This record gives sequence, C-alpha cells and structure tokens, in this order.
Amino acid sequence: MAKVAVLPGDGIGHEILPEAIKVLDKVGKFTYLHADVGGAAIDKYGKALPEQTIKACRESDAILFGAVGGPKWEALPPEQQPERAALLPLRKMFDLYANLRPAKIFKPLISASPLKPEILGDGIDILIVRELTSDVYFGQPKGIEGTGEDRYGFDMMRYSVREVRRIAKVAFEAAMKRGKRLTSIDKANVLHTMVLWRQTVEEVAKDYPEVLFSSMYVDNASQQLVKNPKIFDVILAGNMFGDILSDEAAIITGSLGMLPSASLNDKNFGLYEPIHGSAPDIAGQNKANPIAQILSAAMMLEYTFNMQKEAKMIENAVGRALEEGYRTGDIMSKGCTRVNTAEMGDLIAERLA
Ligand code: IPM
Ligand code: MG
Repeated sequence: MAKVAVLPGDGIGHEILPEAIKVLDKVGKFTYLHADVGGAAIDKYGKALPEQTIKACRESDAILFGAVGGPKWEALPPEQQPERAALLPLRKMFDLYANLRPAKIFKPLISASPLKPEILGDGIDILIVRELTSDVYFGQPKGIEGTGEDRYGFDMMRYSVREVRRIAKVAFEAAMKRGKRLTSIDKANVLHTMVLWRQTVEEVAKDYPEVLFSSMYVDNASQQLVKNPKIFDVILAGNMFGDILSDEAAIITGSLGMLPSASLNDKNFGLYEPIHGSAPDIAGQNKANPIAQILSAAMMLEYTFNMQKEAKMIENAVGRALEEGYRTGDIMSKGCTRVNTAEMGDLIAERLA
C-alpha cells in the first residue's frame, strides 16, 4: 500500500495537515507514518531532523510536510534553526533537486491580487521550476572567518553542467505539457556560474524545438513578474534566484495560503509542502487556510502516485468550494461565507464526488 510520511512540523502545520489527510482518504488508501520535524522535534529530541523521522521518510513513498519554525526557536544558532536544520538536509538527503512551485490564481480570488486588473487579465498561471540541492545554498567553502572589521562571510556559488542539465530537462518537459514557453533565469552578465548555467540550458533547449525559449537576467525577471506576468509560462531558475522569484510569483496570486509545492528526485520520491510558513501568530486557532496543504497532497498524487485523475478531482473540489463563496480569513472578501480550517477541509472533501 502507498506509504506517506506525515510531518506536520510546527504552528499551523498541525491544523492544516489533518485536512489534507481528510481529503486524501476520500480518493485513495494510504498508510501514514507520523513523525516530528522542526521545532517540535527540537523540543522532544533535541534536533530538528531526528533519526526516527529520517527513518519514517526512508520507509515511505512520499513526504507530506506542513511547515516548520516559530519564535520559540529563533534564538538558536542559525544552523540549528528548524528551517535550516530540517528542510535543507531533507532536500539534500533525498536528492530532491526539482522544486515545482505553481503560482496560479483561482478565478474567484482574482481581486485578492495586489496587481491591477489590466495587468492580470483573466489570471496568472506560472510554474516555477527551481533547482533545490546546489548553488550558493550548498556550495563549499562557506563560513565566517577573520577578526574585527576584517571578519568576512563567504558562500560558494557553484553549479555543474550535470546539475544544470537535469533541472533544465525537468523544466522543458514541464513546458511541453503546458504552454510550451520557458524562461531561464540567470545573471550571466556578472557571474561565471551563470555563464555556465546559460550555456547549458541553451544546449538542452536544442532538444525541445517546440518550446519557445529565452534567457532573462534575474533583475529584469523580477520587474517583468509584476509588470508583464503573462509573458511567463515556465520559469527555470537556480536555487537562490528561484527562492526569491517564487515568493514574488506567489504574492501576485494574492494568497500565500493557496500555493502548494513539490520537491522531487529522479525516482518520483517527493516532499510536498505548502509554500507558506508555520504562521505562529494564528496557530492553534483553527483559522488557517488548509488549501495549500490540500493542493500539496494533490501534487503528491500526481507526481509520486501517478493518480492524475484524483489530483484533478481535488483541484476541482477546491475550485468549487471557492466558487460557492467559502473563504478562510486570509482570503475573505465581502459577500463570502467565512469558514474555519476544519470546515474548509470538510467542504472540499464533500465536493470530491
Ligand atoms: C523556501 C524557504 C527555504 C529556502 C528556507 C526556509 C530555508 O524560503 O523553501 O523557499 O530558502 O529554500
Ligand atoms: Mg523561500
């Protein structure tokens, strides 16, 4: 039977993950291995990613992840903090190099976007493909050395041809299944790493003559995202530029609480998580939006379990609940019906017919 490691983490993770399971149980049969991660694991076991959690992940076909972090652990040294000490090692350990971050507006939520209607038109539908296991995040050497005013910090930006090629292929394959347009992001006017990035992506592009391909500097891309978001279909980026641009793409959809993500390796093993954080300010109040977590579960069905039909059903059920005017607080607008976390989960589960 399909096995899923369930890692709610901290804060609202504990409230939204059960809603995703509610929905999953309506469309299939799964065995769940529950485990602690992040601050919750620090409190119990003294570290953010304990052995038993790694074991649960290894024994599973996929990881359904909530969110980690919170004020309680912010005073810890950076390398022990939940985000860094749990997420980054998980990504590296399972070689989850392909991070898919769809930024899509559900039609009923179009007015929540900070962009003007004339820029948005009928909506936005962008897929960011971000490399997740290399770049300046993981490159060696890194550290802080020296003394006094001469103390300096350094992080090596580094990409190999192999690393760029494999993520570029993922992005081109995704583009083939969507709008057949791909923009590769770099900073080839300044960084050697990015000259190699551009050359390598251009090579891969030759294998996909049907895809309309271009390269764009990251500074320009960050402007175009708010000025001309419709020029984008698939955006391919390295780890750091992808981190930054994916937050920008997310916020122009108007609702961080709506966006899922998948981090995949070559064996269809994946970690699926909402792109928002653990929201400690509203944790424990049953008011967080569970939709990003539910859509992350849908991505898990699509990419790990090859259950496209069920994934689509979940997306449609979310769309229907929104069309009928149900909203959690974060996406509430006039004339709509305000519901809590569990009610939103129920509404979506009921619409899975
Ligand atoms: C993300 C986050 C992480 C990252 C942090 C929490 C380490 O911002 O997934 O985008 O920078 O990758
Ligand atoms: Mg980020």
